[in-house]
Amino acid sequence: MTIESLSYFGGRGVGRHDGVVIFIHGTAPGDRVRARVTACKPRFLEGEVVEILEPGPARRAPPCPVAGRCGGCSWQHVDYSVQIEQKEKILRDALRKIAKIQPLNWRPFLKAPSEFHYRNRIQLQLRNGRKGFFAARSHDLVEFQKCWIAEEKLNARMGELRDADLQGLRRIELAVQMDGDVAVMAEERDPEAALFSQVNTAQNHVLIQTLIAAIDFTPDWILDLYCGAGNLTLPLAEKFPQAKIFGVELSRASIERAERRHPGVKWQAGDVARVLSTMAPLKGKGLIVLDPPRMGCAPEVIDQVRRQSPSQIVYVSCNPTTFARDAERLVANARFAVDSVQGLDMFPQTEHVELICSLRAATLLTS
Ligand SMILES: C[S@@+](CC[C@H](N)C(=O)[O-])C[C@H]1O[C@@H](n2cnc3c(N)ncnc32)[C@H](O)[C@@H]1O
Repeated sequence: MTIESLSYFGGRGVGRHDGVVIFIHGTAPGDRVRARVTACKPRFLEGEVVEILEPGPARRAPPCPVAGRCGGCSWQHVDYSVQIEQKEKILRDALRKIAKIQPLNWRPFLKAPSEFHYRNRIQLQLRNGRKGFFAARSHDLVEFQKCWIAEEKLNARMGELRDADLQGLRRIELAVQMDGDVAVMAEERDPEAALFSQVNTAQNHVLIQTLIAAIDFTPDWILDLYCGAGNLTLPLAEKFPQAKIFGVELSRASIERAERRHPGVKWQAGDVARVLSTMAPLKGKGLIVLDPPRMGCAPEVIDQVRRQSPSQIVYVSCNPTTFARDAERLVANARFAVDSVQGLDMFPQTEHVELICSLRAATLLTS
C-alpha cells in the first residue's frame, strides 16, 4: 500500500489495505511499501514493513546511525517540512473531529529554530558498563556516540563520562542548567532539577513571545494555571506589571522556586481545581493561562475557569486530543469562542505536537 499520512499515536504511517486502515512504524507519506500485518484490531490493522518498494518524496536518510532502532526519534527519516505539515494536519483533524471547532484564525505552524540538537536534557540508561537509550517499545539498550537531538553540550559531557563515575547506576540524567553548565544527576535526582521545565530552550522563548503577542488587552488580573516554576508567569508579570497575578501549581518545590524568582506574584501550591473552587470571582478584566500536563484539564477546572469569566483564555497544550476535548467544553453554550490556534514544534524528529490557542469571551468577539 501507499502511506498517506503520519498519525499522532506512536507517529506511525497510515495506509489502507482493502479499505481498512493500517498503521506502520518507520514509514513516510508517499512511501509504497509491502507490509506484514502484526495485529488485527476491531477497526484497524497494525503492521510492520517487509520492504520499501518505492520511497516517497518525504523520505530522507536520517543523519543519526541509530535512528529507527532508538526509541527517541520516530520521524527522523521524514523531511522536516513534511513533519511540520503532518503535525499541522494532526492538530487540525483533532479540533475538527473531536471538538467540531473551526477557529476564526489558523496561524502558521512555527518550525523549531533548529531541527537538531535542541534538547536541553537527556536520560541515559546504563547496563553492564554500556550506556545508551532504550529501543522503541522495549528495554533493549541502543548505544550511540552522540544524540542528534541533544544539545551539543550534552554530547560533549557524555563523552567525558568515565566508567568509574557510573558504577552501580542504572540511569543518569544530563541537563543544561540555567547558568549554561551541564549537570549529571544519578537516579535519585536532585529534586530541584526534577521539576517540570521545557526541553527545547530556543523554542520555549518563541512560545513565550507567542503567548505575550496573543494578548491584546491590559488585564486587571491573570491566573496562570499549571504554572510550574513560573516559566510563563514571569514574562506575563513583566509585561503587565499593574495586573494582579496568581500562579497555581501542584508541585510545592516548583512553587518554592517560583517564589524565589518573583515574590510579587501570588503563588499557590495545590491542585488547580481545588484552589479555584476556593477563590471568589475576580473583579475586572481577566486573563487565564492554562498549560496542563498531557492529560489536559479535569472537567471541574473547566467549570471553574468558566465561573471566573475571563475576557481571554490562552491554552498551551502538548496534546492536541485532550486540548480538543477541553476546547469543546470551554466553548459549550457559546460562552467562549476559539479565536486563534497555532502549532509550534517543540520536539522535532518526533510526533509530539505543541500548540497555543486563544479563546475569547463570546460577547467580546461579537461586540
Ligand atoms: C506542561 S507543565 C507546564 C508548566 C509551566 N507552565 C511551564 O511552562 O514550565 C504542567 C504542570 O502542571 C502541573 N500539574 C499537574 N497536575 C496538576 C494539578 N492537578 N494541579 C496543578 N498543577 C498540576 C505539573 O506539575 C507541571 O508543572
